[in-house]
Amino acid sequence: MTMTRASYDIVAASYAELIPDAHDGRPLDAAIMRAFAELTEGPVGDLGCGTGRITQYLHELGLDAFGIDLSDGMLDQARKRYPHLSFTQGDITKLDLEDDSLGGAVVWYSTVHMPAEEVPWQEFHRVLKPGGHLLHAFKLGNLKNHMTHAYGHDVDLHVYWHDIDETVDNATKAGFNEVARLQRQRDVDEKGPQAFLLVQKRNPEAQQTS
Ligand SMILES: C[S@@+](CC[C@H](N)C(=O)[O-])C[C@H]1O[C@@H](n2cnc3c(N)ncnc32)[C@H](O)[C@@H]1O
Repeated sequence: MTMTRASYDIVAASYAELIPDAHDGRPLDAAIMRAFAELTEGPVGDLGCGTGRITQYLHELGLDAFGIDLSDGMLDQARKRYPHLSFTQGDITKLDLEDDSLGGAVVWYSTVHMPAEEVPWQEFHRVLKPGGHLLHAFKLGNLKNHMTHAYGHDVDLHVYWHDIDETVDNATKAGFNEVARLQRQRDVDEKGPQAFLLVQKRNPEAQQTS
């Protein structure tokens, strides 16, 4: 985790410059995020927000969104670009948030540096309100890679592609229900297909109807 943080501190300014928009040219990614926004009320945590481009998009969709990230360099960029939003340093595996405090959460490519079995679904479940939705974007597959160069800088980053069925299984075990999944083929600047998973925290008080 130390190397992930240090690597993002190094690339932060270049990342912000190279990827300034949330979903430019990626209408499918935007569509599932708009659906998430329609289903969501209350505070929304952009968990692993990086330079804040997604936090800003959620804000533009009318949500009360704030960002949390490991890297101070990425957070500096986020605060500079979106001074009207709140960005806090933190670790998504151990969130400094109350139980049941979020109306929704977005985890947008911030688990790409951990294997699927280490994605902190229990922690996401703890901080979401019952019935709250979580939208998760990740690289689809079963590969892993060690990156030594990214965004024009030397880095030390392990990158993991996650299997969709394993991801749904892990989310289900932690107390979520799958709502929808979207898989799309790679865009020109991507190495492989991408996955977008929308899940909802199970609400024990909700009536089951047949
Ligand atoms: C590929 S970037 C994605 C950033 C942002 N979500 C976006 O789509 O532009 C991955 C981000 O996840 C953050 N990250 C990685 N591990 C984290 C952790 N354990 N806790 C918080 N942030 C983390 C990194 O610092 C980095 O900003």
